[in-house]
Amino acid sequence: MSESPFRLDGQVAVVTGACGKLGPVWAAALLHAGASVAALELAGASESEPYAVVATQAGDRLWRFDCDVTSRASIEQAVDATVRRFGEPTILVNNAGVDQPPDSGGNRSRIEHWPADQFRRMVEVNLLGTFQVTQVVGGRMAAGSGGSIVNIGSLYASVSPDQRFYDHLPGALPFLKSPAYGASKAAVVNMTAYFATLWGAQGVRVNTLSPGGVLAGQDEQFKTKYRARVPLGRMAQADDLGGPLVFLASSASSYVTGHELRVDGGFTAW
Ligand SMILES: NC(=O)c1ccc[n+]([C@@H]2O[C@H](COP(=O)([O-])OP(=O)(O)OC[C@H]3O[C@@H](n4cnc5c(N)ncnc54)[C@H](O)[C@@H]3O)[C@@H](O)[C@H]2O)c1
Repeated sequence: MSESPFRLDGQVAVVTGACGKLGPVWAAALLHAGASVAALELAGASESEPYAVVATQAGDRLWRFDCDVTSRASIEQAVDATVRRFGEPTILVNNAGVDQPPDSGGNRSRIEHWPADQFRRMVEVNLLGTFQVTQVVGGRMAAGSGGSIVNIGSLYASVSPDQRFYDHLPGALPFLKSPAYGASKAAVVNMTAYFATLWGAQGVRVNTLSPGGVLAGQDEQFKTKYRARVPLGRMAQADDLGGPLVFLASSASSYVTGHELRVDGGFTAW
């Protein structure tokens, strides 16, 4: 029997922002498929419980490296260290990102007075960070034997957040999801096409995986309103995401590039 096209045995994967909620989901899926994983994460950032579990199970096939995706020098150091430890990466998951969840404190603003610094920071991490890591890791793939880059987008790359999901939250000002979040993710989808076309001839495939809202500690009213908007009737769970990631990372998707794979339960189909 021929080997499954979904296997990644012997391959080296880089996952940015690896120690939060979704980083361990990507890392676990890649490890399960046989890859080694370099977990790039801000120095001193705490590790989520799921990351700690994955790290314990992975042993020396998962290693954390300090990296700030907004700093080119920091990325180069982390990638050099990755190559020394594991060898040349053939998979990159651009996952590091910042959002402003509703429970992030009381600093709310009317849209007319939205702080430019907050907008700039979101674009800096979500878009410029993805660009710079792609320059460094993707550049090596293009100069070497190719690879697969998966940029983590969002359903809000395609549609505006429904602000009514949050209108039950107390506060003098309504919670507004940042206009920079979806804008930065839409730009990532566009940049995916840029690099897919630029590096296609070098054997580098570049795709976006756009998750819908992932079940975490959201309040009940939010979850009820959100679920009502999803054709599959529920929020995403970690188990929904690993398969699509391995599909895009592996030769199972060998003729897929420049694509946005929405893993959103049909949210954007309505
Ligand atoms: N959780 C969801 O429901 C959801 C839905 C759609 C898309 N996404 C996207 O998935 C990705 C991961 O989201 P998450 O829910 O795990 O978020 P998270 O906040 O739990 O994790 C993000 C990680 O990125 C790291 N990070 C932040 N700035 C960084 C920087 N400058 N350099 C390196 N690392 C940095 C953080 O320390 C954190 O560990 C993000 O791109 C997010 O936009 C998440």
